[in-house]
Amino acid sequence: MSTILIIDDEPGIRTVLTDILEDENYRVLSAPDGLEGMDIIRNDSIDLVILDVWLPHKGGIDVLKEIKELYSDLNVIVISGHANIDMAVKAVKNGAFDFLEKPLSLDKVITLVGNSLELRDLKQENKQLKASLFQEDEMIGSSPQMEAIWERIYQSAASDAKVLITGENGTGKELVAREIHRRSRRAEASFVEVNCAAIPDTLLESELFGHERGAFTSAVSRRKGKFEIAHGGTLFLDEIADMTLSAQAKVLRAIQEQQFERVGGEKSIQVDIRLLTATNKNIEEEIAAGRFREDLFFRLNVVPIPVPPLRERVADLPLLVNYFMHKYNPLPDQPPRSFTSEAMKSLQRYSWPGNIRELKNFIERINIMTDEPEISAELVSHFLQEKKMQKVPQGLQKYSEMQLNEAKADFERTLVEQRLEQCDYNISRTAQELGIYPSNLHGKIKKYGIETKK
Ligand SMILES: Nc1ncnc2c1ncn2[C@@H]1O[C@H](COP(=O)(O)OP(=O)(O)OP(=O)(O)O)[C@@H](O)[C@H]1O
Ligand SMILES: [Mg+2]
Repeated sequence: MSTILIIDDEPGIRTVLTDILEDENYRVLSAPDGLEGMDIIRNDSIDLVILDVWLPHKGGIDVLKEIKELYSDLNVIVISGHANIDMAVKAVKNGAFDFLEKPLSLDKVITLVGNSLELRDLKQENKQLKASLFQEDEMIGSSPQMEAIWERIYQSAASDAKVLITGENGTGKELVAREIHRRSRRAEASFVEVNCAAIPDTLLESELFGHERGAFTSAVSRRKGKFEIAHGGTLFLDEIADMTLSAQAKVLRAIQEQQFERVGGEKSIQVDIRLLTATNKNIEEEIAAGRFREDLFFRLNVVPIPVPPLRERVADLPLLVNYFMHKYNPLPDQPPRSFTSEAMKSLQRYSWPGNIRELKNFIERINIMTDEPEISAELVSHFLQEKKMQKVPQGLQKYSEMQLNEAKADFERTLVEQRLEQCDYNISRTAQELGIYPSNLHGKIKKYGIETKK
């Protein structure tokens, strides 16, 4: 039930409004002046204020300003007489939701109150959604490896030196990049991120450097690239080892000459950016294989920050587990559940191929899927087991270059092999699990030349 506070010096108005709103099932409080009104706002939980602009002692506009200063989310509807309509307009300029003119119309009061409360709910919902979606993690960890990373972060934040962050998937490379930006003199300017692996080669150049209108068929208007958008701030090029050699050449040139042109443009553009890069590939191997330019590597790798996999810093596990257990606690007013010491040990034994991202998802799932008061080793192994099973067809990555028939065959073969192994090579059980006839399964085993003896 929403609570509405009426601040008006006329007892008649307070009574009428109270009656109307109570009939609509609102809880209604009232005060004859701003002082008493503010007192109620401070001590009760008010959802909406209806405020007379013409008040004794402290004027309505001043009360409004005070409310907005202290509780910017609290909506205020002002009431004014015809004679002081200009004050009502002023009130709206000062943040009032809307105004009601005397004599009050019952319908208008009800509609306006309803609208205002609805809008406030929407805003709150929106805020919460945003908070839960975009809430960035703090960087947790106190292992010697993490301390070394922090040291590098602070060192490099003090200058514009280029930093190359390396490490396996989910180790926290992006988080490191954001921490550097946040601590640098560019913190107030933007942090612009480009995932080089996600953009097709044909579009990468325009994404990075922008294009002029008509530069290519789909370039219907002029567009700034990320290098320009990041001007004054930090540009984070993620997955740089996935850039083609031709894209690497263009980035190298932009870095060396400290200027570039938009695609299809002639004017050279100079920007002031700080460049951070990251990759999960072993870049020395990429260089040896001729897939990454060594000269670009030297340019980018001024400050190297290798982020070790989680299994090499298990000392951080308890802290991380505790952090994510708080973050995903389904009952935030109670302390999060704890892990038995056996359960904690099994977390430390696990190899965490997906690193911190995997740990984070794992803890989120445990919190959603179980309501056991304490997390046991059995529960942990159950959830980790389940993860392993899900992993089997290794995502869609390997199919990206295949034609449909080839991909189907590859998938079928993998699935049959895996199911056979799980069922101890028992043909009828495997067939049953796969929902096919044993004869059909035999056919597939023969077709793919699958080994059926253990
Ligand atoms: N030290 C840490 N403390 C808390 N959360 C962390 C830490 N490191 C990483 N995370 C969280 O784990 C997730 C993965 O981190 P991030 O995206 O930075 O990894 P990444 O190395 O860039 O991964 P990828 O190679 O897949 O792009 C994110 O949700 C991040 O907030
Ligand atoms: Mg990343």
